[in-house]
Amino acid sequence: MTEGSQSRMVYLSGEMVPEAEARISIFDSSVLLGHCVTESSRTFQHRPFLLEQHIDRLYRSLKVARIHLQHTPAELLQITLNVLDANRPMMATGDDCWIVHNISAGSLKLGPGSNQVNPATVMIFTNHLALRGWARFYTDGCHAVTSMSRAVPSQTLDARIKNRSRMAYTIADAEARLVDPDAQCVILDIDGNVSENKGGNLFVVSDGELRTPSTDNCLAGLSRQTVIELAQEQGLVVREMKLQMYDLYTADEVFFTSTPYCMMPATKFNGLPIGDGCVGGITQQLLAAWSERVGMDIVAQAQRQI
Ligand SMILES: Cc1ncc(COP(=O)(O)O)c(C=O)c1O
Repeated sequence: MTEGSQSRMVYLSGEMVPEAEARISIFDSSVLLGHCVTESSRTFQHRPFLLEQHIDRLYRSLKVARIHLQHTPAELLQITLNVLDANRPMMATGDDCWIVHNISAGSLKLGPGSNQVNPATVMIFTNHLALRGWARFYTDGCHAVTSMSRAVPSQTLDARIKNRSRMAYTIADAEARLVDPDAQCVILDIDGNVSENKGGNLFVVSDGELRTPSTDNCLAGLSRQTVIELAQEQGLVVREMKLQMYDLYTADEVFFTSTPYCMMPATKFNGLPIGDGCVGGITQQLLAAWSERVGMDIVAQAQRQI
């Protein structure tokens, strides 16, 4: 996971192998069709966080994507823990790792049909959780910028299927970075409502309450869910509702949520300051509550990597 002589071990369809030996077919459905579902979870202090919930979401994605997996959720959980254990010696004290699952419909048989004909290709790996790129946003906030491209409508591909077809998100991110190389994209849906970021959900704080788009047009993020729970524990009102650009311009606070960084404050939206242009109090309060929940300082961990 970190540099060193020991090779990272990854899991590929039944075997734990050094990463250099992990090979998939060029006929795999992930390559030929982008037909592959995914999960990214993380550890806190080397312990998996919400891993069972990530695996539950993975099985929901698999079902809707019509990918048959030969393992039960309990088996997949055990395999995942084995991958984590195999790579534990490479994890530095104070650092953490991603745990990534990619599951495709296996090797394809070229022809008229797209149905799965071979066992799923199961790819599981860990990776050092590099937080450096986000670290300064905890104190300075990031610049949130709307992309030109709109989100793929859920009527075409339901945003709740966490899948590896990342072309739309990648293009949207590149577009936002034309405005500011450090921009974090805000992707609107085809009706002009805020949907999500290329890898995160969005919240605004207005009139003292939290507002976030419903999962009609975005992934049901587990960090989003964690923020909702933490906010409700603190007695804050949380509303799932349609948000437009106007709501971000006029919000007191805006932040993104995602597994690696948990919460990323935004202090500027399309060039205008959000609130007083500083990271907001409710954002800080919720981040502190999250740190308390996992027993470590989330911000300090990222800042140690600068
Ligand atoms: C498109 C998209 N939205 C939101 C999220 C946030 O989800 P989570 O909080 O479960 O990491 C992700 C995570 O990768 C994502 O890819």
